[in-house]
Amino acid sequence: MIIHLIAAARPNFMKIAPLYHALKKQAWADPVIVHTGQHYDINMSESFFRDLELPDPHIHLGIGSGSHAEQTGSVMIAYEKVLLKEMPAMVVVVGDVNSTMACSIAASKISYPSSPDRPSCKPHHANRPIVAHLEAGLRSNDRTMPEEINRLVTDALADLLWTPSPDAVENLLCEGVSRDKINNVGNIMIDSLEMVREKIERADAFTEFGLNTGHYGLITLHRPSNVDSPESLSTLCRMLIRASKKTPFVFPVHPRTRKNLATFGLFDTLLDAEKIILAEPMNYINFMNLVFNCKFVITDSGGVQEETTYLGLPCLTMRPNTERPVTVDQGTNQLCTMENLQGRIEKIVSGDIRPHSVPELWDGHTATRIVDAIHAFNQ
Ligand code: UD1
Repeated sequence: MIIHLIAAARPNFMKIAPLYHALKKQAWADPVIVHTGQHYDINMSESFFRDLELPDPHIHLGIGSGSHAEQTGSVMIAYEKVLLKEMPAMVVVVGDVNSTMACSIAASKISYPSSPDRPSCKPHHANRPIVAHLEAGLRSNDRTMPEEINRLVTDALADLLWTPSPDAVENLLCEGVSRDKINNVGNIMIDSLEMVREKIERADAFTEFGLNTGHYGLITLHRPSNVDSPESLSTLCRMLIRASKKTPFVFPVHPRTRKNLATFGLFDTLLDAEKIILAEPMNYINFMNLVFNCKFVITDSGGVQEETTYLGLPCLTMRPNTERPVTVDQGTNQLCTMENLQGRIEKIVSGDIRPHSVPELWDGHTATRIVDAIHAFNQ
């Protein structure tokens, strides 16, 4: 059974890795990694393949950057050609990036030319691949977020919806998705983390920055709502510089953020802040080593909200909403505004930490549950 695993951008690589390794052990499965090329810098892409012990992508679409429509359209055009040539039985898309939506659309609308030796898949899908969405059902209910549009479209099209938590199941049921398409498999990001935990613990990224365990904050920011306008980015920089008087920070800067900091004349201001260390985007192992050893995180990333919840580390999310509410209800995550950020940092630095628990099925066995689900579906 040829199964395409679509990987496009940094947060996708951690989601396909455990599934690739689990499928590779099955005699019936032939997992094929398709990289759309949405992220292309070594430290945004290649280093993740190395860290997660993935082979080089079997198929590379080389799409690169562009506006939303350009990126989505280019992926659809390129992937349609691949689909017609390779005729996979299943396409697994992960997360919520533009390529997730683009490949879902291309795969849902394709019609394979008829052939007697079609790879095995259910008869009603015999002329196109089954589309499965891993990390289905997450909703921020904020359609100004490009990722929310990608989630809605992808979930509307997918044949199989693999959710990370019960709230995602509820969202899909409320949208009228049939119960038999949904399978709550848990959080695949935790599989990746557990897969390379020893390497993360052995790494010494934090000491290389001269930082001490439990005595620094980690910053990641890249959402358009935070970094694309000069007003919000300069307010954020002011807040971070003020907060750095209380605790040192390390800030691996995403390419979008770096570009905007430079354009708005803010990069040097941050660089001059004595206790803020600016770094390049990091590979998975070194970045997770910084997470493991920090006191708290300030972020607008989706994945980091989950990783900190799993590890029990305070997470301050610079967003008005989250598609991962379980990290707030059960986990260590707090949604923050420019107004309350300072107070929250002070509380954490003074040791005022909220109780938390790890959500159900965030246990490192999600890939196994998915492999079982694919096998059962195809019987
Ligand atoms: C994308 C995803 C977002 C995800 C994020 C993780 C969408 C809509 N957004 O946002 O959901 O959280 O990735 O990083 O799909 N760039 C580089 N090098 C790279 C990649 C990008 O320099 O390897 C530059 C691009 O030229 C562009 C900017 O960074 O100017 C943004 O890249 P893009 O992929 O469009 O969106 P992200 O902000 O990374």
